[in-house]
Amino acid sequence: TFVSKMSIYRNAVWFVKGLQEYTKSGYETAAKHFAPEDLDVNLSGRSFVITGANSGIGKATAQEIANRGGTVHMVCRNKDRAEAAKDEIVEWSKNQNVYVHIVDMSSVKQVWEFAQNFSQNNAVHVLINNAGCMVSQRELTEEGLEKNFATNTLGTYILTTALIPSLKKAKDPRVVTVSSGGMLTQKLNTDDLQFEKGTFDGTMAYAQNKRQQVILTERWASQNKEIHFSSMHPGWADTPAVQLSMPSFYAKMQSRLRTEAMGADTTVWLAVSPAAVNQPSGLFFQDRKAVATHLPLASSRSSPQEEEKLLAVLEDLALKFKP
Ligand SMILES: *[C@@H]1O[C@H](CO)[C@@H](O)[C@H](O)[C@H]1NC(C)=O
Ligand SMILES: *[C@@H]1O[C@H](CO)[C@@H](O)[C@H](O)[C@H]1NC(C)=O
Repeated sequence: TFVSKMSIYRNAVWFVKGLQEYTKSGYETAAKHFAPEDLDVNLSGRSFVITGANSGIGKATAQEIANRGGTVHMVCRNKDRAEAAKDEIVEWSKNQNVYVHIVDMSSVKQVWEFAQNFSQNNAVHVLINNAGCMVSQRELTEEGLEKNFATNTLGTYILTTALIPSLKKAKDPRVVTVSSGGMLTQKLNTDDLQFEKGTFDGTMAYAQNKRQQVILTERWASQNKEIHFSSMHPGWADTPAVQLSMPSFYAKMQSRLRTEAMGADTTVWLAVSPAAVNQPSGLFFQDRKAVATHLPLASSRSSPQEEEKLLAVLEDLALKFKP
């Protein structure tokens, strides 16, 4: 069928592109054009909310921000791992303004409670939607939602939507969403947002969620001119999440993977550099540059109607489980 041929085409083109650009050597090539002074900023007095901040790219991002004097709010699921990561970040940065908030991003109820309570008690200048989930078997949350979708798409949607009023009150507010180049293999499919049809494929579900995050970023940008929105691809990085959820990819690619700091570089740049906000809001970035959100000839564009349907479904689910 057209759909399955297109899927093979997209995956093949994407993988070849990835070998060139998403690896460590891809990063090193791109980094020759980075302006080092872009990250030479004092973040004292600015407040950053980072989800999934206790490991991998999230932790590397939190560390870079703490190093520059920013106040870091780590939003994490596991208390022990979060506290251990926090202690390390404080020790390296000598910055005491690092706080842990325990939230399971797959729980609509918990995300709402956190967002409402947080915005009553704290300022937020920058939200970094980094937490991600790639379960390989179809699993439901306590609220009966498919877990990848609940974490990656709905959790991101609720947290961002709930923090927008606070962000609008801040100076130079930004929202950075850590998506993935894997989204290039997917076209938005609003007919099966929770993967109820056919054989479940965790990698595909994740990539579909990452496509949704890119679309949400475009939508938020057009609706909230005061805030700078961006999504990004970290490249293929050597993180515990990649090792755990894609073991065969990890084994094959390990020597070519980026470090966590390389994976975090563009997120940090988007979150802190004055140069980033000179770029239009709503774009998708790779190695500090806005890049295309579709592969050539890949038929992955969605219609405005489909995108509005995504937003309508998310709004319904967000309200349905609001405490
Ligand atoms: C950053 O700014 C704060 C407040 O203006 C100041 O106290 C601090 O010394 C600055 N840090 C550096 C490394 O310049
Ligand atoms: C609400 O915020 C306060 C202050 O930040 C905190 O002490 C409290 O534990 C929070 N409550 C919940 C339910 O998160």
